[in-house]
Amino acid sequence: MADIDINALILSEHEVFRRDFDNLEQLSGTDELRAAWQALADQLEVHASGEEAVFYPHVVREAGDVEDTKHALQDHNEIREAAQAVDQHEVGSDDWWAAVRRAREVNGEHMEEEEREILPSFRDSVGTERRTELGMEWLQFHDEHERAKGLSGDAKDPEAYVQEQEQEPA
Ligand SMILES: [Fe+2]
Ligand SMILES: [Fe+2]
Repeated sequence: MADIDINALILSEHEVFRRDFDNLEQLSGTDELRAAWQALADQLEVHASGEEAVFYPHVVREAGDVEDTKHALQDHNEIREAAQAVDQHEVGSDDWWAAVRRAREVNGEHMEEEEREILPSFRDSVGTERRTELGMEWLQFHDEHERAKGLSGDAKDPEAYVQEQEQEPA
C-alpha cells in the first residue's frame, strides 16, 4: 500500500514542485509555458489550501506549534501573491520569468522551513495512525479541489486562522 502518512504526502508534493519548476525552465513555447505555469500555480494553491484545511489545524491543536503556524500562513500568503504577480506579465517575457523565479524562491524557502521544523515536530507529536487518517483527508481534499476548483486563492489572516483552530475540538 502506498504511504499515505500526511507527512510523506506533503513531502512528496514538495518534490513535485521542485521538479515542476525545473521542468518549466526547459520549455520555450508560449502556449506550453502558459499551460505549464497555470497547472503549477493551481497546484501551489491546492497545496497551501490543503495544508490549511487538513494539516495546520492539527499543527495548532495537536502539536501546539502556534507561532510556526502563523508564520506558515504568512508564507502561504506570500506564495499566493508571488504566483498572482506572474500573471501581470506577458508569458515568456523577462519580467514573467523574473516573477516565476521569485515565486519559486519564496515557495522553496517555505518548503525548506516546513521540512526542517514543522514536519519533524508534527511527526514527533502525532502518531502514525492519526497521520494516516489525515493523509486520507489530504487525498480527499485533492480530489475535491482538482486544478484549484472552488479555491479562492485569497490571503488568510494568520491570527484569525490560529484563533479559529484553537476554538475547534482536536
Ligand atoms: Fe506550506
Ligand atoms: Fe508544504
